[in-house]
Amino acid sequence: MATGTAPRQIMPAEAYVSMEWFRREQAELFSRCWVFAGMTEDLKAPGDYQVIATGRASLILLRDAEGGLRAFHNNCRHRGTRLLEGKGNVGRAITCFYHSWSYDLAGRLKSVTLESEQFPGIDKSCLGLKPASVATWRNLVFVNPDPAAEPLERWLSDIPQKLGPFEEGETRPHDPERLVEVADVVYRVRANWKIIVENFIDGYHLPLLHPISLGDGDFMKQHWEAVGRHQAFYRPLKPGISHNDRPLPVIEGLPANYGASYQWLFPNLGLYNLATFWSTFHVIPLEAGLSLVQSRIRAMPEALERAANWPREFTDLPPHIVSAKGPYAEARDPFPPVHPTKSNNVMLEDIYACEAVQAGLEAGGTIGPLSRWERPLEFFQRQVLDYVAV
Ligand code: FES
Ligand SMILES: [Fe+2]
Repeated sequence: MATGTAPRQIMPAEAYVSMEWFRREQAELFSRCWVFAGMTEDLKAPGDYQVIATGRASLILLRDAEGGLRAFHNNCRHRGTRLLEGKGNVGRAITCFYHSWSYDLAGRLKSVTLESEQFPGIDKSCLGLKPASVATWRNLVFVNPDPAAEPLERWLSDIPQKLGPFEEGETRPHDPERLVEVADVVYRVRANWKIIVENFIDGYHLPLLHPISLGDGDFMKQHWEAVGRHQAFYRPLKPGISHNDRPLPVIEGLPANYGASYQWLFPNLGLYNLATFWSTFHVIPLEAGLSLVQSRIRAMPEALERAANWPREFTDLPPHIVSAKGPYAEARDPFPPVHPTKSNNVMLEDIYACEAVQAGLEAGGTIGPLSRWERPLEFFQRQVLDYVAV
């Protein structure tokens, strides 16, 4: 952990509660950043698509006829109408529901209804879907509304070198491509997206809010560093503890006493890794005081074999869970009838804390000094303020 001057809160409290701030972040930050859009396996066949809302833009992420990924602005070139919703497969063309203009999977305008009668002389070649940027890093997909965005590799800086137990330098065993998804859970959190990020990267609360649920961590040895606009963190387990006894098998190549690392990819994606799993923690802003968190967990393939008979999708979910899929989704566990801070469930403890900070700030609370282990918060706030000036 870096030392030197004391970290300080530089984000005004208003930034967590004001809709005006929220709108500015959408327009000035999320509309200009690379953001996480899922895994390459989410779109398998030509025509598979998913609509991604980021900033003020709605984007279509699409698998094209050649098997490549493309991103377009989700607007028909006739009336600007939103073309697609949700996810699915468009077949060989995107056809607008309104007046049936049709675009191929490369975004070219192929047909205009009653073209010769209604649009004599129209030049279809300049009316293709407007492109956005799309790029992959390993099997993670990122999009940027700006078609001329800086290359993703440059945006990611040295994060690829910090993917595994980066203290040891060379080994990078957390390779998500050789792992399989075993859980996909979406949580609803009544808190501003930045509060959720700041909770995730806060090294101070770890032994205090999670004394039992993360009781095996040696937080006195936590290590944090800034990586471009992003961040990387590692903390070991306490001596003598290993994760050999966990439901998920230890990832091949990792020591069973590997602790926990995260990489925070600015602005809103965490990668969280233990000896037994690699996961994405995607914070999706909905309103000033409301966000979704989608957590997808990948583990060794034999984890799925072990769990072959388990249900794949859960219903009858507790109120903080929107959806839950996968044999290792935490929704399968009965939630204890105790206060969240006594639940021994990391996510319940964190959601409670985030919602309590939000409630406090909405009631006029002010924010005080930051600890050394909260230096990552100042660093994160600085990145946000680079885009959304006070
Ligand atoms: S708005 Fe799409 S075809 Fe008219
Ligand atoms: Fe936490």
